[in-house]
Amino acid sequence: MNAATARARAHAALTDLRPQPDDIAADAIAGLTRSPRQLPSKYFYDAEGSRLFEAITRQPEYYLTRTELALLESTMPSIAQAVGPRLHVVEFGSGSGRKTELLLGGLEDTVAYTPIEISRTALMDSVTRLGQSFPDIEMLPVCADFTRTVPLPAAGQRPHRTLVFFPGSTLGNFDEADAVQLLTSMRGTMGDGGCALIGIDLDKDPAMIEAAYNDLAGVTAAFTLNLLARLNREIGSDFDLDGFHHHAVYSRERMRIETALVSDRAQTVTIGARSFAFAAGEALHVEISQKYTDASFAELAARAGLRVTHGWNDRTDAFGLRLLQPA
Ligand code: AVJ
Repeated sequence: MNAATARARAHAALTDLRPQPDDIAADAIAGLTRSPRQLPSKYFYDAEGSRLFEAITRQPEYYLTRTELALLESTMPSIAQAVGPRLHVVEFGSGSGRKTELLLGGLEDTVAYTPIEISRTALMDSVTRLGQSFPDIEMLPVCADFTRTVPLPAAGQRPHRTLVFFPGSTLGNFDEADAVQLLTSMRGTMGDGGCALIGIDLDKDPAMIEAAYNDLAGVTAAFTLNLLARLNREIGSDFDLDGFHHHAVYSRERMRIETALVSDRAQTVTIGARSFAFAAGEALHVEISQKYTDASFAELAARAGLRVTHGWNDRTDAFGLRLLQPA
């Protein structure tokens, strides 16, 4: 199958439930109204944000992606044995699909692949590429915010079981309550006979973690600020991109990176008829990146009715993959 055919097929099957400007504006206004102010990190991922995130993964300080890719590559034989053949693979927040390539390449006779991704360009690009590499796997892309309930497209062939794939420590971008809710919804997606493979960043030297979110080239800062640029583009807000700076610190106590955009001066931001006054030095919280220990992750999973059946860490215990099943 050539690229054009793959693209046409992918487009034909696309379920498009993208967030609309009204949803984004409502979420932004709700977050800016709270104290402390916050914005949802899922809106980082427009086309530009997804491009900047890919650039982050190539920074020397950002160990997560390259560590997880190497770990996935070396553990694929054990993973394939643990999950078995003929799966419907459902990926939450598929991004560029580089890890998917390794997963699908290592599993046996996969029936269908459903990526759920909020960035339409990232979704279509990855499905086009994966469709070429895996012509026998049915591609069922869904463009949606995976924190909302997403109806799963049915595969043409009957799979043995559903595997939810959630790499990248993306789970860490959710606070505890939301993470439990998300895992619970994955529990529903996989069904009683299913399983989930989840990538988690592990607690470690705070200096190493902090460096990963403060790369010297400033790509992470540009990524964070793009959230404001995106809102300006899509909902007509008037954030001054020169009036805020990126600030990411590791809280040892909460075992998480907390990222904010800090207002450089007193200023007012407007969205339509609403206006929001920022004091000099006031933080707008935009992201958390939770890190885990074996115990903290197992406990989180248990709260969602899931238990860890297998675990694999890289040699340095920087990053882990966990296989979960209904408890
Ligand atoms: C989307 C979870 C992989 O939290 O590490 C990277 C997003 N933010 N640098 C993370 C992110 C700043 C990232 N993940």
